[in-house]
Amino acid sequence: MNKKPLRIGLVGYGFMGRTHSNAYGQVNHFFDVAYRPELKAVCGRDRAKVEAFAARWGYEKAETDWRALVASKEIDVIDIASPNDTHAEIAIAAAQAGKTVLCEKPLGRNLQESRAMADAVEKAGVASMVWYNYRRVPAVTLAKQLVDEGRCGRVFHYRAKFLQDWTISAKVPMDGAGLWRLNADVAGSGVTGDLLAHCIDTAIWLNGSIAEVTAATETFVKERSSAVTGEKREVKIDDASAFLARFANGSLATFEATRYARGHKALYTLELNGENASIAWDLHDLHRLQYFEYSEDSRLRGWRSIHVTEGEHPYMKQWWVPGLQIGYEHTFIHQVADLLRELEKGKPAGPTFRDALATEYVVDAVLRSAQSGHWEKC
Ligand SMILES: NC(=O)c1ccc[n+]([C@@H]2O[C@H](COP(=O)([O-])OP(=O)(O)OC[C@H]3O[C@@H](n4cnc5c(N)ncnc54)[C@H](O)[C@@H]3O)[C@@H](O)[C@H]2O)c1
Repeated sequence: MNKKPLRIGLVGYGFMGRTHSNAYGQVNHFFDVAYRPELKAVCGRDRAKVEAFAARWGYEKAETDWRALVASKEIDVIDIASPNDTHAEIAIAAAQAGKTVLCEKPLGRNLQESRAMADAVEKAGVASMVWYNYRRVPAVTLAKQLVDEGRCGRVFHYRAKFLQDWTISAKVPMDGAGLWRLNADVAGSGVTGDLLAHCIDTAIWLNGSIAEVTAATETFVKERSSAVTGEKREVKIDDASAFLARFANGSLATFEATRYARGHKALYTLELNGENASIAWDLHDLHRLQYFEYSEDSRLRGWRSIHVTEGEHPYMKQWWVPGLQIGYEHTFIHQVADLLRELEKGKPAGPTFRDALATEYVVDAVLRSAQSGHWEKC
């Protein structure tokens, strides 16, 4: 089948630049969609490095200023995979230039930037999408199907955590590749906007909107050197964040994230407890969904560990044979597949900027509550 080209301009060639580029390259091998991503240009600030990236991943051009991508008539989609302080400016300019805008999470560094981004794509009438890729883990998508089918019944509890351990040493510097996360001027916030944003997005997707929160945050290492300038600087991000939440449906929740949980690398876990069933998932074992259903024969009742590799499971028909699992990078391929599929129908693939703004309201309320010591509305 002759596929229509969708011409991509990617900003940022780091961790996410690689996952997105891989997804663009793989999607047509596995998914039958009418569009074919065409890798037109990639942008980064270092000429030699961005050229090497372009050559490796098959981009036609390398640029050092994202404005060249936004101005180019040969580009349909601006994909923002650069640090958080760049998101709002690039997204708004791209929307005004009539481009489809894809953006890494979180939307902006704060609620103000995020709102402006959602408004800009709507005002320009362009499609938008945020890379909350955990929605596209087949086991998590299966959880969504089970919840939507009403199998859990009334939901009482939701709990999520995202634990890492890579910033425990006070010698870890801030600034530069990956380490920009420790600089609040660039990142906006610490683990709340970085890790909890994922947990909040999935939670809202599965269990509806969050009405109010009460939170505590902590910064364990108060000063770090800059990897770029060498100077010592005050650390202004939250190193750890924990909050209680009340969903609009009446369920109670706990959320926790830290980069100080020795032994944990990317332990994102979620659990939902309903009247009739419970669901649990763990990123370290991402192809399994744990499920408990009360209606079963009590002699056989128990938690089952569903190996999400059957053709009937979300996305899995496109991959190998039952029993053979897929991984992290596939979540981005699924997101691109959904984007291309929805484009055919003339609809945006969620989460749009407006959808993702819901998470930013919660992030903002968490940070406000950590300051005020009170419950805050989202
Ligand atoms: N969806 C996810 O699971 C996930 C995971 C990691 C990161 N992220 C998000 O992706 C974004 C990028 O994170 P990362 O881990 O890839 O960071 P990274 O440090 O690995 O890469 C960032 C890239 O952006 C480039 N860059 C920085 N400023 C730029 C500018 N002004 N113009 C052009 N390029 C610029 C850097 O040179 C680098 O190539 C962040 O918003 C982050 O929150 C999302």
